[in-house]
Amino acid sequence: MSNKMWGGRFGSKPDPIMEDINTSIDFDRRLYRQDIAASKAHAAMLAKKGIITAQDAKRIAHGLDTILSEIESGKFAFQRALEDIHMNVESRLAELIGPAAGRLHTARSRNDQVATDFRLWVRDAFDALDAALAGYQRALAEKALHHAGTVMPGFTHLQPAQPVTFGHHLLAYVEMAARDRGRFADARARLNESPLGAVALAGTSFPIDRNMTAKSLGFARPMANSLDAVADRDFVLEMLAACAIAAVHLSRFAEEIVIWSSPLLGLIRLSDKFTTGSSIMPQKRNPDAAELVRAKTGRIVGALAGLMMVIKGLPLAYQKDLQEDKEGAMDAVGALELSITAMTGMVRDLEPDVARMREAAGEGYSTATDLADWLTRALKLPFRDAHHATGRIVAKAAEAGVALDRLPLKVMQSVEPRITKAVFGALAVDRSVKSRRSYGGTAPSGVRAQARRWLKRLKAKA
Ligand code: ARG
Repeated sequence: MSNKMWGGRFGSKPDPIMEDINTSIDFDRRLYRQDIAASKAHAAMLAKKGIITAQDAKRIAHGLDTILSEIESGKFAFQRALEDIHMNVESRLAELIGPAAGRLHTARSRNDQVATDFRLWVRDAFDALDAALAGYQRALAEKALHHAGTVMPGFTHLQPAQPVTFGHHLLAYVEMAARDRGRFADARARLNESPLGAVALAGTSFPIDRNMTAKSLGFARPMANSLDAVADRDFVLEMLAACAIAAVHLSRFAEEIVIWSSPLLGLIRLSDKFTTGSSIMPQKRNPDAAELVRAKTGRIVGALAGLMMVIKGLPLAYQKDLQEDKEGAMDAVGALELSITAMTGMVRDLEPDVARMREAAGEGYSTATDLADWLTRALKLPFRDAHHATGRIVAKAAEAGVALDRLPLKVMQSVEPRITKAVFGALAVDRSVKSRRSYGGTAPSGVRAQARRWLKRLKAKA
C-alpha cells in the first residue's frame, strides 16, 4: 500500500532505505507541542473564516487535545512510516475523529507547518536558555560579592600581570553572559514572525487570516513573503551562532577552572559534587564537568557550521535538505543548557584558596606597574622613564631572588635615588587592587558595587 498522506499517484511502498533516509520522526517528535498548538490555531482560523464548519473545528481541537495527552503520557505510537510529527499527528487525528481530520490540512502545507513549529520550538529554547543564563549570572554575582576583596593574580599571556580581585574576574563572565542573553533576545525578536499561511510556497486562494493565527501563536505578525517563510532557516542559524558564542564563553571559564584547580596552581577547590576520582590514581580529583563544558563547545559550533553548509546554495523555496536543520540544533541547545547548568553548580560550589590566591597574586613581580605608577605620581617621572627604572629594579629583585616589596630601599635607590620608603605602600597586593578605582576596575569597592547592581537587576527580572 502507498502512503495514505500523499500516495495518491504512487503504486507501491517506498524502499526500506527510502524510509530510513526520509523519516524525521525520531527527532521531530520533539515538536509535538508546537505542532499541536499550531494546528489548533489553524483550525480555529479556518472555522472563523467559514472555510471549515465550527463543528469540524471543535472535533479537530478535541482530537488534538487527546493526542497531546497521549503523547505526554507516553501512550502515543509514533510510526516511522508516517515520516514526521506532522503526519503522525494527522493520521492519529483521523483515527480519533474520522473524516473531519482531513479538513485540517486545508490551506496549509507541511512546509509552512514545519517552519512554524520549529520557530515556536526555537523561541521556547531561547526562553529556556535565557533563564538558565540568568541563573548562572546570579551564581557568579553572588560569589563575586562574597569575594569582592579576595586578591588573586590577574594574567595576560597566562603570566602574572597585575593583582586583581576574584570577584572582578567572576563579574567579567557575568558581563559576557549578559551579552549572550542580548544576542538571544535580538534573535528572538527577529524570529517572532509567523510563517503559517505561506502554505507550500505561494500562499493560497482560501480567504485565510494570517494575522489571526500569528496572534494566537504569540507571533508579532505574519511573515510578509511566503517563499521566504518556507525557505529560510536563518532563525536557526542565528540561534546557533548565539549558542556558539555563549558556549565559547563558558568554555573559557571552564578552562580556567581546570587550570586553577590543578594542584600545581591550587587557586580553587572544586566540590566533590563536580569532580571525579581516578580508577587507578587514588589521589585524583578530576574537574570532569569543566572539561566536558569545554568540550561541548565543539558540537555546538559544529552544529552551526553544519547547518550553514546545508543551507548554502539551496534554491528557493522549500527543499528537503531543510529537514536537516533540527538534529544539530536540538543537540546544541541541549548541550548548552546542560553546560550552563553544570557551570552554575560549579560556580556555587567552588571555593577559592584565599591564602594561596594572595600569595600567587604577589608572584612574578605583579606590582611592578604599581611601582612605575608611584614613580610617575610621587617623583613626577614621565611614565616611560618610570617604566624603565622599574624594569631595572625588577631585574635587581630577580637577581637577589626576592619579591619587590622585600627588596631593600637602598637597592631601589641605586636605580632611582629619590625613592623613599613610602614606595612600599604601593607594592602590597592589597594596596594595589584597592587603588584601581577607575570605573570598571578591580578595586573591591567597585566590584562590590557592580555585584550588587547585578544582583538587583537579576532579582528585578526574575
Ligand atoms: N519533515 C519535514 C521537514 O522537517 C517536513 C516538511 C516536509 N515537506 C515536504 N514537502 N516534504 O522539513
